[in-house]
This record gives sequence, C-alpha cells and structure tokens, in this order.
Amino acid sequence: MALDKKFIDQFVNVTSYAALASSYLVGKKNKIAADKAAVDSMRSELNKINFKGKIVIGEGELDEAPMLYIGENVGYGNDPEFDIAVDPLEGTNFAANNLPGALSVIAITEKNNLFHAPETYMEKISSRVKESGVIDLDFTVKKNIYNLSDYLNKNPENLTACILDRPRHQKTINDLKKLKVKIKYITDGDVSGALLVTNEKYNVDIFLGIGGGPEGVLAATALDTFNCTFQGRFLFKTKEDKIRAKKMGITELTKKYELNEIVSGDSIFCATGITSGDLVSGIKIEGNKFVSETLVTHKSSNYKKKLKLTKNISYKD
Ligand code: FBP
Repeated sequence: MALDKKFIDQFVNVTSYAALASSYLVGKKNKIAADKAAVDSMRSELNKINFKGKIVIGEGELDEAPMLYIGENVGYGNDPEFDIAVDPLEGTNFAANNLPGALSVIAITEKNNLFHAPETYMEKISSRVKESGVIDLDFTVKKNIYNLSDYLNKNPENLTACILDRPRHQKTINDLKKLKVKIKYITDGDVSGALLVTNEKYNVDIFLGIGGGPEGVLAATALDTFNCTFQGRFLFKTKEDKIRAKKMGITELTKKYELNEIVSGDSIFCATGITSGDLVSGIKIEGNKFVSETLVTHKSSNYKKKLKLTKNISYKD
C-alpha cells in the first residue's frame, strides 16, 4: 500500500508531541533527559498508528538504546509496511542550552526504500540544483562554486555556503574564503543546515561538509521532495565502524551515494521545532494547549509545507 497522504497528519502528530515532551527540558543543561523525553514520546505516538513500521535509523542498536533502536518494530497493525528514520531530538546542545534550532525529526518510506545508515560520519553536499553534474562530492570546492555560480547566475561573492563550524572543515573553509563565498557557520544541527538550500529566502546556496550519517539520510528525504541535489559518502574511521557497516549491508565503504540511492519511492518527512530556528518555530504553550510548527514533505503529492498545529497538551488518544 502506498504511503497515503492520510499518514501526514499522524506523523506530524508524532514529531509535534515529541517536540512538546522535549520542550519541557529546554535550557536544563541535560542533553540526555531532553533526548529521552523526545524518544519516549515518539515511540508511544508511533505505536498509536495503524501500520507496521521498522526503525532503520534510530537511537542506536538494541544493546545501546532501549527505545527506537535499529530494527525495532513500531505501530500496531500488519500493513502497510514502512521503514522509518528517527532523530527525536536533533540538536541536543540546542535543547540543553535553550539555543535556536532544536528539532524533532522523522522520515518514512515504503518498506525497503530507505537507506539503513550506520551511526558514523558522512561527507555531504546539497544545493538548490535539479541537474546532476553541477555540484558533486568529487569536485573541488572551486569547481563546485564556479559551477553553481554559473547555474544560479550569481557571482561567487554573492553565494552563501553553510557548513558546520568544526576544525575538520578548515581546508574547505579556507577554499571558500579564497573564492570570497559568504559562509554561514552552524554550531550544530546539520539536518536543518542541509535543508536551508531549499528556498532562496534562507540565503544559503550550498551546504557542504562532514556531519552525522543518519542526519544525512533524514535531510535527503526532504530534499527529494524539494527536487534538490544531495550526495553523501560515509566515513568509517575505526575497524568496528567498518564491521558494523558491513553487517548493515554496506559493501562499498567509500561509495558516493546519490539521493535516489539513499531514498526512493514515496516518502514523508516531518521536522517540528522544539526551539525556534531558521527552519521552523519552536513549541509555544498557550494555556492547556501548545502550538507546534512542522516542516512537512510528501513526495508523491509534491507536498511541502510548514504546518502550524494547535493541540491539547494532554493528548490521550
Ligand atoms: P545531536 O543532536 O545528536 O547532538 O547531533 C547534533 C549534530 O550537530 C548533528 O546535526 C550533526 O550531524 C552532528 O551533530 C555533527 O557531529 P559532531 O558534533 O561530532 O561534529
């Protein structure tokens, strides 16, 4: 069965209540508690939906995560069967320190259409480009910027690149500076970073650099509906990383993955704000109700919207 539009509301509910749960821990300097609140809520909301879901990207494997672990089944039905990637709290530092940009994120596809990404780093690139060959992980920074400059008809000094502010990116940052490209540094939260290319209003033309692999898969799901380019390449440092990847079915460890190899077919993506950030507003409490804002995409209906919901805080359905 297709990933019907009727599921949109149900999955928006899932990230909205997870965001609400985590919002009570905002600014409490406790990343683990803020994450756990989101995880617990997400799991209980997923289990209220009539479908058979399998977590393919989650909070770790069974031995290290009691809930929403890779391989866990969620939902109470037998069909339809979906694969699910979750990041119940994306930006644990943001939530713990009450900084902008904490999100609760989920991506859903039909069974076997979502990459089973291990918890390792990924080299990523995304841009508001539909054609292949304009930006590419294998190109130099200079070639990517010149190509993008031609494609978007903007001089390099009028382009903005978003990148995680990390010492590992020093060479890339130096290259961007030499080309006079403006840089938007983010301290965390590269799901949001990768998605800032989706609309000119965010003033980001290219996202690049190394961040989490699971975050790459989540961002790719939304970028697919926005018709943007995304490529990712996993980086396995340790021997254990490599063994784990092979167990997950990854045979070519240095392969550059195109977006359609990461996510295919129909998909739904929801990212609800916990604290307000570039992408969406955070949770607001109004009496016994809360207001959430969620960026939602649904591939087959080309649906891409920010949904504001007002809901009762005590939801017991
Ligand atoms: P958490 O929410 O798990 O703390 O991840 C935040 C994040 O900034 C991700 O968005 C990003 O992919 C990753 O951490 C980058 O990792 P690192 O901080 O090790 O560079």
